[in-house]
Amino acid sequence: MATLKVLITQEQIQERVKQLAEQVANDYADRPLLLLCVLKGSVHFFSEFCLALGRDEDDIDFLQVSSYGSETQSSGVVKIKKDTDLSMEGRHVLIVEDIVDTGYTLCHLLELFATRRPASLQVLTLLNKAEARQVEVPIKYVGFDIPSEFVVGYGLDAAERYRNRADICVLGEN
Ligand code: IMP
Ligand code: MG
Repeated sequence: MATLKVLITQEQIQERVKQLAEQVANDYADRPLLLLCVLKGSVHFFSEFCLALGRDEDDIDFLQVSSYGSETQSSGVVKIKKDTDLSMEGRHVLIVEDIVDTGYTLCHLLELFATRRPASLQVLTLLNKAEARQVEVPIKYVGFDIPSEFVVGYGLDAAERYRNRADICVLGEN
């Protein structure tokens, strides 16, 4: 049977989202952003972050990648299932991720998007598993550094389950 142990509460997430939005608003004071949501895992974080940022001049866009299937280990193979719609050329682009684990997904996205000639390209991730990194990736904003354990909730899934929990839990076996 699967067990869930709360790692980050809803209150902690909400507080951190506010702080991150303030920091980003400060750093991009005179620069409208193109905010990119990496589906599906980032959906709740992206939505709450964008609302906290709350600026009329920022645009949003969505992409979907897959690297996992239903496994809990990264395959290292990244596939774009849905690409972005808006042009990135000359835009200040911020990729909003749920979690960076091995780094393969982000590495692939950064290489691909660099060819689209944005004015700048940075990454915001809610969760960072630094110990699991297989490839170096530059991350400008991190919500929480977490241990290398499999987590679910707040958008993150295990075979599509648990995405709609308001907190983040470590998934274990019992
Ligand atoms: P990476 O390519 O290994 O960095 O993994 C990136 C993607 O794998 C994330 O965007 C998630 O979709 C998924 N992933 C990595 N670790 C976890 C986890 O602990 N729980 C749920 N999904 C995860
Ligand atoms: Mg993701």
